[in-house]
Amino acid sequence: MIDYRRLRIALLGAGSVGSQVARLLLEQRTELADRAGADLELVGIAVRDVNAPRDTELPRELFTTDAAALIHGADIVIELMGGLEPARELILEAINSGADVVTGNKALLATSGPEIFEAAEQVGASVSYEAAVAGAIPIIRPLRDSLAGDRVKRIMGIVNGTTNYILDRMDTEGADFDAVLADAQRLGYAEADPTGDVEGFDAAQKAAILASLAFHTAVPLESVHREGITTVTASMIEAARHAGFVIKLLAVAERMDTDGQESISVRVYPALVPREHPLASVHGANNAVFVEAEAAGPLMFYGAGAGGVQTASAVLGDVVSAARRHIAGGVGVGESTRANLPILPIGAVTTRYQITLEVTDQPGVLATVASILSDGGVSVATVEQTVVDGAGTARIVIGTHTAREEDLSSTVQRLSASDVVRAVSSVLRVEGE
Ligand code: HSE
Repeated sequence: MIDYRRLRIALLGAGSVGSQVARLLLEQRTELADRAGADLELVGIAVRDVNAPRDTELPRELFTTDAAALIHGADIVIELMGGLEPARELILEAINSGADVVTGNKALLATSGPEIFEAAEQVGASVSYEAAVAGAIPIIRPLRDSLAGDRVKRIMGIVNGTTNYILDRMDTEGADFDAVLADAQRLGYAEADPTGDVEGFDAAQKAAILASLAFHTAVPLESVHREGITTVTASMIEAARHAGFVIKLLAVAERMDTDGQESISVRVYPALVPREHPLASVHGANNAVFVEAEAAGPLMFYGAGAGGVQTASAVLGDVVSAARRHIAGGVGVGESTRANLPILPIGAVTTRYQITLEVTDQPGVLATVASILSDGGVSVATVEQTVVDGAGTARIVIGTHTAREEDLSSTVQRLSASDVVRAVSSVLRVEGE
């Protein structure tokens, strides 16, 4: 066996991903050494409770509750404990004590990314986080390295498996949101408190990370427009299907050009995606990220967005890269914010929309609706009307041409206030056309 230089690996956290990372580091030590060009010695695993049950059998002597002591002397620190503190403090400590860092902590990167990257840059350390977005799917390194010579125009991602599972079952079975959510909780996809997933918080964190990387701009989490899927009903899904769309919770990060001024928009919302778009065929809890780059054109990255062993693959890829860099020397690749593009509010975004209205079925109603749209500067592309019941209600589904969000939302307010409109049933953006 080749006598490789030994690198000390400290692991913080032994949850579903951490315990798989530990297992693979131990079981595949010889093979990983050949791949990394260094012997990766797992020197310890810091946890809150040494006696807590684990997903996998691991040597007891590796466990400690003293994370700070474990970090000192480590060459690579893997942070998989999650949460903001003490993860932030421990990562900064690791960087300042000369270690490279691998983390899967999306919440931390979306809130304290700039502080962490700045600290790493100061000392020439690397911070890698492939596991923070879309689990096993390689998307951070493609954006950071493979596409470094190209200009990313737009990213559209299905980056939350729980919501994709729910929307997919609603689409394929015609089921209601509440029934599928209960199933998702029973199957372990959704947590007991599903807010982080179903209200789009998890996707917004991932959107902020992807947008920062793709557009070389610090993207604070507060600048990401976020809407969840709790308002999506079975009838909206059915209407979308009828019109040739599927509803997906999308994280969209887009470069925009308004009168020669470059800016970006980052947003998360349920959107209508044409059934023939590659993202429409992402089923179950899978994730996919669709990237449009100027020279490369459209690219799609697809696979498991969560799962202990799947996400461990992304972590170990980062560990091997960090080890190679550690051996070769030189400074880590910094996160560039050189472009520092302005981030537009949601009101400035332009897309197509589909508006569904319940209206009074009497003469002149369509003309009234059309004039409100035209007064609001919203141009109609398609209109479909059906009679809903015997009580004088009709449903009008309006597809708009590209409109500005602030024009659209003030127009929807006027529609809502109009005597002829009984209800605005839904307003959905159309993406991916
Ligand atoms: N809760 C996330 C999801 C997995 O449902 O995709 C981790 O990011």
